[in-house]
Amino acid sequence: MKHTYIVSPGGSLQGVLRVPGDKSISHRSIMLGAIATGVTRVTGFLEGEDALSTMSAFRAMGVPIEGPDRGRVTIEGVGLQGLQAPRQALDCGNSGTSMRLMSGLLAGQSFATTLTGDASLQRRPMGRVADPLRAMGAQIHTQPKGLPPLEIKPVAALQGIDYTMPVASAQVKSALLLAGLYAQGVTRVTEPEVTRDHTERMLGAMGYEVRREGATVSVRGQGKLHGTDIDVPADISSAAFFMVGASLAPGSDLLLTHVGVNPTRTGIVQILQLMGADLTLLNPREVGGEPVADIRVRHAPLHGIDVPENLVPLAIDEFPILFIAAAGATGRTVVRGAAELRVKESDRIQVMADGLRILGIQADPTPDGMVIQGQNHWPGGVIHSQGDHRIAMSFAVAALRAQQAITILDCANVATSFPGFSACANQVGLQVTGA
Ligand code: S3P
Repeated sequence: MKHTYIVSPGGSLQGVLRVPGDKSISHRSIMLGAIATGVTRVTGFLEGEDALSTMSAFRAMGVPIEGPDRGRVTIEGVGLQGLQAPRQALDCGNSGTSMRLMSGLLAGQSFATTLTGDASLQRRPMGRVADPLRAMGAQIHTQPKGLPPLEIKPVAALQGIDYTMPVASAQVKSALLLAGLYAQGVTRVTEPEVTRDHTERMLGAMGYEVRREGATVSVRGQGKLHGTDIDVPADISSAAFFMVGASLAPGSDLLLTHVGVNPTRTGIVQILQLMGADLTLLNPREVGGEPVADIRVRHAPLHGIDVPENLVPLAIDEFPILFIAAAGATGRTVVRGAAELRVKESDRIQVMADGLRILGIQADPTPDGMVIQGQNHWPGGVIHSQGDHRIAMSFAVAALRAQQAITILDCANVATSFPGFSACANQVGLQVTGA
């Protein structure tokens, strides 16, 4: 299972690339397609391990699903009340999205379920969903400190609530909205900062009324979803590695096609532009309720910035690669208000700081962010990704500015979000070999 990348130093990124489908939208296509009435046909589905964990879970609950076959998936929805008790615990693998969103959806079922996952997921906080779901009347048992596995028991009925989230989390918001589909009355969720709204958009596309007033989003329970066609755009979080790589590597000129540019996800574009990046959004269009564009990236010298805190939730998965951008920028970059990074697939503040220091970059972690002093080049070295897919890919991109090869350990989990990463990377000019 352990997998090592060895990435040759230098080079530039050129050509045209469509990265795999959006992870968040792929998860939701299965979950909402499963509880809709009628058929949902998905194209561009991300065949990564995380979305496949969600798919297996719904198959285990009796939902007929065909595929994936080159990004095509067909789901025969069983309706809001049509899921069946699975024979065993549902294994969410490495995927926090599967566990958190499903906990909301399963809290309203008439059967018991257990949600479990791999060693990384077993360390991630679930109290943030279990507590408000309990306030809706759900019966959820967590391990001490709110850790997985989660044991969910059936209850007579869930009640809608009015909940203000203490952390800006689309996973928590989505879990509560999904529970809200099963609840009596209205479920209202207020977010402290804007977070990704794919759940709301897809519910709308399936004919379910979702209201938004300012920072509050609400659903009324016991409605109906109708199966629909879903075209999953390329994942901006995967495209981000190449946006930064092309920005950092002299001579680069790269076109990333069909990228999802939902405004709740484009923090990476805004932050890179503030740093001086040359990014152009071309051919903007809307596909199934989600904005999409092609993104042209040309090399440009980057400079350090204080990252505006309101952009943090809009780029929450992109900080590992943004730290690499900061390392290659002139001057100092300061990230604050990003404590959430400490409870992702790894502690992304600490693990990135450790890796950057191995490359001789001055990186000072803080409780909620990092201060990075940029430099033009760095030597190579051996980096431990701690099994975190985005850390592994970030240091692969860092090789574009290295003077010797970068070796990255424990890269198997890249397949959770970006199957075929090395082939894509090599196609546009990185030189990644595996061992
Ligand atoms: C996701 C939301 C984010 C993100 C994760 C996917 C989603 O988590 O980090 O990769 O699909 O809703 P939080 O909302 O908990 O920050």
